[in-house]
Amino acid sequence: MLVVVKDNFEEVSIEAAKLFASLVRRKPDCVLGFATGSTPLGMYKELIRLHKEEGLDFSKVITFNLDEYVGLPPSHEQSYHHFMWENLFKHINVDPRHVHVPMGMAENIDEFCLWYEEKIEECGGIDLQILGIGANGHIAFNEPGSSLGSRTRIKTLSTQTCEDNARFFENKDEVPTYAITMGVGTIMQAHELLLLASGAAKADAIRATVEGPVMAKYPATIVQLHEFATVVVDTDAASKLEGDYSGF
Ligand code: PGA
Repeated sequence: MLVVVKDNFEEVSIEAAKLFASLVRRKPDCVLGFATGSTPLGMYKELIRLHKEEGLDFSKVITFNLDEYVGLPPSHEQSYHHFMWENLFKHINVDPRHVHVPMGMAENIDEFCLWYEEKIEECGGIDLQILGIGANGHIAFNEPGSSLGSRTRIKTLSTQTCEDNARFFENKDEVPTYAITMGVGTIMQAHELLLLASGAAKADAIRATVEGPVMAKYPATIVQLHEFATVVVDTDAASKLEGDYSGF
């Protein structure tokens, strides 16, 4: 696992965008794994700039997102479909037919999850998957205790996650209690992983992820076992690391 420490969020975002852009240039029909949350936003902004100013071409790229709330239609402002279109897809020349975000309104969720796994495989697997990390060590909606071999499936959101999300909804009853998420095993099958973190609130999770034992209590720790994983963090998120990563 390669650990890269940058001065701030902006530098983390630019480094991450460089890795994505270089893959898109090298392999125009690559399969990209995207994530929601505040962490990838800076990278998305930079990818949009590279598209608009330097002609970075996404027309052949295929995308898969990590997760989506169950019960929210794609048009809902808090859906991850909406997030991705607002913050990235509508600003670049991605082909809408190449975009895959789990379908929170699927009639048969188990069938949908199987289909999602098959579709990823049919496209040749995810070339590069971006990951944020929860302060509790979750990746996607794989909360602490998730099976490290898990596949795409429906998960109940933790009470903490529901409480954290409540601020985004007008009415408490609207807060989704379930999500569809790629599993830890699905994520590990991506050819390359890029985990980003910024801010002191992520320092404990980053220490566990980079230097702690691999355990289901911190699903992100599994990344240590991936052959091609890069962790890009700012100095605040890196503040509890004991090792010296300045040489990388
Ligand atoms: P954040 O969320 O990017 O908004 O901090 C990351 C996550 O929970 O995976």
